[in-house]
Formats: sequence, C-alpha cells, structure tokens
Amino acid sequence: MNLLVTGGAGFIGTNFVRYIMNRRPGWAVTVLDKLTYAGRRENLSEFEGSPGYRFIQGDICDPEAVREAMDGCSGVVNFAAETHVDRSIDDPSSFVKTDVEGVRVLLEEFRKEDSRKMFLQISTDEVYGSVENGRSGEGDPLCPRSPYSASKAGGELLAMSYFTTFGVPVTVTRASNNYGPYQYPEKLIPLFITNAFEAEKLPLYGDGGNMRDWLFVDDHCSALVAVLERGRPGHIYNVGDGQELTNTEVTTAIIEATGADGNLVRHVEDRLGHDRRYAVDISKLQRELGWKPETDFATGISATVNWYRENSRWWKSIKSGEFREYYRKMYSEKLENSERIR
Ligand SMILES: NC(=O)c1ccc[n+]([C@@H]2O[C@H](COP(=O)([O-])OP(=O)(O)OC[C@H]3O[C@@H](n4cnc5c(N)ncnc54)[C@H](O)[C@@H]3O)[C@@H](O)[C@H]2O)c1
Repeated sequence: MNLLVTGGAGFIGTNFVRYIMNRRPGWAVTVLDKLTYAGRRENLSEFEGSPGYRFIQGDICDPEAVREAMDGCSGVVNFAAETHVDRSIDDPSSFVKTDVEGVRVLLEEFRKEDSRKMFLQISTDEVYGSVENGRSGEGDPLCPRSPYSASKAGGELLAMSYFTTFGVPVTVTRASNNYGPYQYPEKLIPLFITNAFEAEKLPLYGDGGNMRDWLFVDDHCSALVAVLERGRPGHIYNVGDGQELTNTEVTTAIIEATGADGNLVRHVEDRLGHDRRYAVDISKLQRELGWKPETDFATGISATVNWYRENSRWWKSIKSGEFREYYRKMYSEKLENSERIR
C-alpha cells in the first residue's frame, strides 16, 4: 500500500507511522502535516531518507498541498485535526476549519482517482456524547457536546456522505482516549506525568469522577491496520479497550508510577460541559476483523511513564516554549482557587 498519513507528526500519527514502517516494510508512507503547535517533524527523523518515506509540510485545507501529497497514493489515513477539547472551548474556529473543511479538501482530491482503495477517517468516541450507562454502538445517534467533538462529527459525516453520494471507499473509526509516547503534554496523562516529574501541581478537573476507556496507542495502531487491510468501505468501527477508569484512578496510577507526592493533586474548577463518561462497544471490530487490544492499563501506563522519563528533552523543550503561556491561561486562576485534597 502507498499511504498518505495526514497529521503524521502528531501523537497518534507518529506512533502509527512508526508502526507501519516497522511492521509493513513493503508499504510506502507520505506524511502531510501542517506542523501546528501539536506536530513535530523530529518525531519521525529516524525515517528521513528511508526508501518509501516522504514528509511534506502542508495544510489539509490547501488543495495544492493535498494534490502533491496524494499523488500516487492508494490509501489515506486522516489523523490531521485540532484535537484539544479545552482549546476548542477557547476558540472553535480552527477546529471547524481543519476538522470539517480539511476533510472536504482531502475527499475532493481522493475521489479524482477511481483506483484508490481506502479513505480512513479517524474519528473519536466523543461524537456519541456523554454516556451514563451501557456502551455506544456504531449505530447509536451522535450527540457531540463540545466544539471539538461537534467538528469531528461533522468531518466523519461528510466523509461518509462521499461514500453514499460518490461511492468513495470511506471507512470511519471512532477510538476512545489514547495514551502512550509522544503525546503533547496538554492532555491529561502526559500533563500529569510531566508535572509529577517537575513536582508541579496536578490540576484535576471537578470531582475527578469523569470516566474514559483508555486505549494504549499501539493497540489503536494495530486496529487501524486491521481496518486498512480488512475493513469494509461504508462501515464505522469503534476502537476501545474496555479499561474504564476515573480521572482520579488515572491520577493515582501516575503518582504511583512516577513516585510523586500525592499532595500535588489539586481539584480545580471543571471543564465547561465536561462529558462524564465515554464507553464504546468494540464487538464489531473484534468479530469482523479479529482484532483485540493487547496492553492492559498497568503495563501501558508504566511504559508511558518510562518513555517520558527517558525522553525529558522532548517534553521539556515543548513545556519551555509557547506552552507556558497556554498553561498559565488555562490553569493559573483555577489553581489559585483550588483546594488541596490530600
Ligand atoms: N488522542 C486521542 O485520545 C484520540 C482519540 C480518538 C481519536 N483521536 C483522533 O486522532 C487524530 C490524531 O489525534 P492526536 O491525539 O494524535 O492529535 P495531535 O493533536 O497530537 O496531532 C494532530 C496533528 O495534526 C496536525 N495538523 C493539525 N491541523 C492540520 C492541518 N490543517 N493540516 C495538516 N496537519 C494538521 C498537527 O500538526 C499534528 O501533527 C485526530 O483526528 C483525533 O481527533 C484522538
């Protein structure tokens, strides 16, 4: 396969490109990435100059850049997106642009060649909205509740409309929360790991009872390869792990794995509209494609903490840059108002 991986310099994209380069040596990979604050070309520097690997800096909303990057590609995996819920609450405009309009630009270029095999749109379990009981199945109604999840829902609905209207071989995956190496330290797990290493406070939203189904990023990558190789166009596949944990439980695991002081935890004012729980039913992916997750949370969090311990230059260079201003804006007032819980 000759794949175009958009957003390949971000968290999941980096892990996915590495997964493909190591486990599918016959495949060629072109990465198209705008290199926003969340993307780093250096994540993939080991592959620069390798046969079959190409990196293009460009925007998925730019038809020229997309045309150049998609030339000769038989499949597209679209990771490129604005992804942080908190930033989408602060300013939704870039989310609508990249996560909806960017998908349209990619689809328009994709459908110019009939021989192309699959357009895999990476979506999220957040499109189902908060699920108090049970698990979301692929046929459940969508009820996105943040500008991020609403934009992602728009992107996947648009992609599926190209299947129905134009016969474009579109497949959609909806994954649960990922964790692992190379995740930008604005997200819960890398933020808390790196703050713990620096003996900084751990700002825990609300009562800490929000639940997520945590998926180790390599398990997500193996699911995506299964979908690329055996998935059916016009179908949607949930990807998750069934490892439901509250944010408090995740925080406790991080404190234990890093050896940090539990007194660093602070309950802070909750995120606006914070969804209480996401949980996906993954039986379709298991039954149809024979996929199963392999990394339990204890193993995955330990590997993740070790990666951040051994790669402090990676995250320290991020945290010393524009991230500081972002962190001050997001958390300084909340932390001033917080109560110490232990
Ligand atoms: N992280 C999760 O837990 C999770 C869970 C389910 C689904 N997803 C989805 O997976 C995908 C990847 O998520 P992630 O966590 O790796 O995100 P990320 O924020 O770490 O990376 C996003 C990447 O997209 C690039 N990008 C952003 N706008 C672009 C544009 N206009 N043109 C080209 N490149 C652009 C960025 O430079 C970055 O490299 C996203 O579509 C996200 O919605 C993420």
